[in-house]
Amino acid sequence: MHVMRRIPLAMALSALGCGGALAADPTTLDWSAAPKTELTLFYPGQASQEWIFGENHKSGAKALRKGEGCLECHDGEEEGLGETIVTGKKLEPGPIAGKPGSKKVSIQAAYDKEYFYLKASWPAKTAGAFHEYLVYRGGKWDRYATYINHPSVKSGKAKVSYEDRFNVMLGDGKAVPDFNNQGCWVTCHNDLRHMPNEPTAAALDAHPVLGKAGMKKDESLKYLRETRTEIGPTGGWDKLKSKAELDALWEQGVKLDLWQWRAARSGPVDAASDDHVFQSRNADVGKTPFFKNWDGAKKQPKVMYDPAKNGGAAALAESQFRDLKAPRLKEDNSIAYDPNRAWKEGDLLPRYANRKPAGSEADVMAKSDYANGMWTVYFRRKLATANKDDVALVPGQTFPISFSLHDDNVTTRYHYVSFPLKLTLGGKEGQIKAVELK
Ligand code: HEC
Repeated sequence: MHVMRRIPLAMALSALGCGGALAADPTTLDWSAAPKTELTLFYPGQASQEWIFGENHKSGAKALRKGEGCLECHDGEEEGLGETIVTGKKLEPGPIAGKPGSKKVSIQAAYDKEYFYLKASWPAKTAGAFHEYLVYRGGKWDRYATYINHPSVKSGKAKVSYEDRFNVMLGDGKAVPDFNNQGCWVTCHNDLRHMPNEPTAAALDAHPVLGKAGMKKDESLKYLRETRTEIGPTGGWDKLKSKAELDALWEQGVKLDLWQWRAARSGPVDAASDDHVFQSRNADVGKTPFFKNWDGAKKQPKVMYDPAKNGGAAALAESQFRDLKAPRLKEDNSIAYDPNRAWKEGDLLPRYANRKPAGSEADVMAKSDYANGMWTVYFRRKLATANKDDVALVPGQTFPISFSLHDDNVTTRYHYVSFPLKLTLGGKEGQIKAVELK
């Protein structure tokens, strides 16, 4: 947000003068100039960083220790790997019936003097443009719909609804050197949420830094090995280095940038969550494009639809569940929840509401479109944001990058991922070649 101060005025003016490359709308760029990279993202199951260095991946581990990368052995194997794992033959104790093992995604990238643009598109059977819902039942609010393999869905109590997501993980190539060859596996450990050694809620709450007295993390999230004193075969979520050591790493630029486009929680406000991975997966400084519509103390939603702007209704009817025409719950059409209203059995409210993001968290614009069975997401971010929690992109240079995609009502590890890739801004090296817009 302070970037204009750092750009010489003459340059900013000349960019304006030469006809509109500055802050172009990513949906109307001439994308035909940018080469298309067709990627196969695959289902990784429980293949964590500990697993790729473990007993069952010995030859891989040996090569990784020497600095080789996954693609040196696995290039072209994505579809086969995904199929083996998604069906539960390996590394997946809880397979989801009928889930495909991989997903084709098409990527294009471009940049101008100030901005970087990325276009991603992939086929999706339905627009997973909805997240979780709450329902009013028997005098209280309860969960109505959530992700496909949640216990409440398995028991038949809740319906299925969880947003699609497309995520970009970006490094500077130096501060987290293993990311160059190991990709997102540097952030994935055996003790993350939904992984085999996930800590209990009580253990997480009691952690002096990550828990209730500190960062208030209610899930065990991605982290970097650099931030832990030790990592064993089950991970090292609780073995944080001291504050002084972590501060020093942060000063050195240790972190990975993580942009998460969320079809329900960020898409409706044309944004991606601009997050990063360090000692945990954190939102950048500022305000996220969504908040949880739940007051835990009062056990009721925080906001409801403003009846004055919603045809007299404060909630959605059950018939509007996952209806693309139903209104989103946003700042401009919602008001504080009224517990004294005459709520009806089956009234629905989204469990998350959108808001306009702010600060460094708002750095990444993401416009999205679902048409003819395809999602297309257009990202735009300043090359350099001047925020410490972002990785700056530089024309002429090459950066390690990884992608992931959540499709068909899943969360956490039940996603598709890419092997470690390289993005170049104007160079020759790398799978993703961003072209300069003139
Ligand atoms: C030196 C070569 C080599 C490198 C480098 C390597 N692997 Fe492997 N990987 C293997 C071999 C060999 C297997 C076992 C395949 C088999 O025999 O079934 C394997 C198996 C796997 C599997 C299990 C699926 C299966 O079909 O067995 C996953 C997942 C995997 N590797 C991920 C990775 C990731 C992620 C990286 C990079 C961080 C990586 N590998 C780097 C050689 C390698």
